[in-house]
Amino acid sequence: MNIIIVGPPGAGKGTQAKLICNEYNLTQLSTGDILRENYRQGTMLGKEAAKYWSVGGLVPDDIMINLIRQEMTKPVPGNGYIFDGFPRTVAQALSLRDIFDELTLPLTAVIVLDVDFDELIKRLSARRTCTKCGKTYHMMFNPPKVEGICDLDNEPLCQREDDKPAAIENRLKVFKEQTLPLEKFFEDEGKAQHVPGMLGINEVYAHIKNILDKCK
Ligand code: AP5
Ligand code: MG
Repeated sequence: MNIIIVGPPGAGKGTQAKLICNEYNLTQLSTGDILRENYRQGTMLGKEAAKYWSVGGLVPDDIMINLIRQEMTKPVPGNGYIFDGFPRTVAQALSLRDIFDELTLPLTAVIVLDVDFDELIKRLSARRTCTKCGKTYHMMFNPPKVEGICDLDNEPLCQREDDKPAAIENRLKVFKEQTLPLEKFFEDEGKAQHVPGMLGINEVYAHIKNILDKCK
């Protein structure tokens, strides 16, 4: 199974990708997480990419396509990949299609999370992330058991640099300009499966599971 999950910033891609991974035994390829990890480790890629993501812009396509190509040469356990945050432009989707062809991998489904922009702002501005394992919480909708502390490893939670108001505004603008056309691309290919992302986390997941169980 190879699944792509598409949606605007804060739609719940990461939250749902983790649930899907656990249930279907897939490897999550989250380009945002990979870039942030590179930044934490101080790699050249990490420093270069941070110039773009810290202000809410997109990292150039050639950098991202090379990154995904590299990731997909690594042996991974499980039944396939879930792509979270990639592709994000039509150029990236075309390159991913080439990589799938080269590796003879099937594309099982493209899940598109539909969420209103007002809701996205609420979700992003109160998101907190574990500094160690990257698990994501929401101060109201999905709080940790102990305020400010990760349930999994007791590490402190922090706010992502690009969850500050100016960066959020830019991310939503960039989404409309560069990623919405990607949804149309997958619709035209007959691959897009829209899911009502405004519902609660478990209800959204039930919709996704219903789609994926039919693809098994
Ligand atoms: P990335 O990390 O992918 O950020 P994003 O796309 O902006 O999406 P987010 O991670 O912010 O949101 P999400 O949809 O995962 O939502 P989450 O589950 O956390 O990328 C960051 C940056 O890296 C980009 O801006 C770009 O610069 C660069 N980049 C990455 N990939 C790239 C690419 N391919 N090309 C170019 N540049 C790239 O949920 C959000 C919050 O809401 C959480 O608090 C969560 O608890 C809560 N929540 C989730 N679901 C629900 C629900 N159903 N109800 C209520 N609350 C919910
Ligand atoms: Mg995410």
